[in-house]
Amino acid sequence: VSENSRLFEKLVSVECPDSTYHPASNPLVFKSARGSVICDADGQSYIDLCAGFGVMALGHPTEDQLAELIEGTSIIHGMGDVYASVDKIEFIHELAALYPHGPARVALALTGAQAVEIALKTAMLATKGSGFICFEGSYHGVELGVLPVTHRQDFRAPFKSWLRDESVEFVPFGCTTATLERAQRALQMRGFKLAGLIVEPIQGRAGIIVPPRDWLIDVAAWSKTAGCVSILDDIFAGLGRTGVMTNAQNANFDLVCLGKALGGGFPISACLGRSSVMEAWPVCNSEALHTGTFFGHPLSCRSGLKALKAIRFSNLPQRALELGQKIKEFINVQLAGSSRFVEIRGEGLMIGIAYSEVGFGAKLMDQLRSHGVLALASGPRGDSLSITPALNIPENLLFDALQKIVDLSK
Ligand SMILES: Cc1ncc(COP(=O)(O)O)c(C=O)c1O
Repeated sequence: VSENSRLFEKLVSVECPDSTYHPASNPLVFKSARGSVICDADGQSYIDLCAGFGVMALGHPTEDQLAELIEGTSIIHGMGDVYASVDKIEFIHELAALYPHGPARVALALTGAQAVEIALKTAMLATKGSGFICFEGSYHGVELGVLPVTHRQDFRAPFKSWLRDESVEFVPFGCTTATLERAQRALQMRGFKLAGLIVEPIQGRAGIIVPPRDWLIDVAAWSKTAGCVSILDDIFAGLGRTGVMTNAQNANFDLVCLGKALGGGFPISACLGRSSVMEAWPVCNSEALHTGTFFGHPLSCRSGLKALKAIRFSNLPQRALELGQKIKEFINVQLAGSSRFVEIRGEGLMIGIAYSEVGFGAKLMDQLRSHGVLALASGPRGDSLSITPALNIPENLLFDALQKIVDLSK
């Protein structure tokens, strides 16, 4: 029996059944990684087209790079909302500078869902409302505080009786401003003043769905006229993946949520945005209204600072855009005429390949694993395959992996 199988059985014998994917065959256990190559417990290597759900934007580090990260520091944990660390202060300034529309303030958390939760609370404090407009197909995390704004029914259904659905209005991704107005009125009629609108620049987990051109600009502008706080969930798409450090660059959103790649592999997330909106929070004179034991974790801040600088100053966003274009051209040519292939979509290195068969993305994900490639199925029907590699993935590795996708997709 393989070491992968032995370890996997050991895991699932005690782990909560829902925590780790149970593949039909060939379980995989990570043992080591470097750049865009991962090795499993049996010594088999894989080209990594997932980069840890987009987290490892700079690829997996070497042991030397990891050692360099902790060199010269002994502050691993700070005291979140009580005392700050030097690393946190440096990091937070770098983050504030990312906001493209004037003076900004930043709140740190650990996970994407927590950053979204801060954004929702900020909108409530700033408007004294509690209604939200969200989009069909959205994914903003699954914690109970953010589950109401995540649309995917499979995540919501078992907990439906707990969710306060009447304060949320879902509208189609890409809808007109007339639809947004109708949603605002519907909330008002149910007694909920509109607090905010939350949107992904590209819907990631829905299967990499791209909205119409300039639509985000209109959505942000509409929010301003509607008097609500506009929130861009840039957790998956931000930090260079789609060619820009933040997708709020053109669209004037009040708040931007960042996560995933933000910590260079370490857990950290942020809600940042317009100072005038963030200042709806009171000054913390005793205990913070919103906090967590690990918020502003110094080591994550240190790693995040390095990652931000590396992404920003190395032209990786531009590379992502150019490589994304090449991927689209390659797949469109190679899969033209394949009856299963529907389309390839996305921006930069956030790419989805859609198939006509329900579950084909999931089937392909398993087959690719046996051929030494890691990519993730996406979309509620498992009919897409998403490709979100490191922004610095070597081109030869990327195209070797794409060739395998082509061969298995026909
Ligand atoms: C757009 C978006 N928002 C929020 C989240 C939630 O992030 P986390 O899983 O870190 O809570 C995700 C995770 O995939 C995401 O893609």
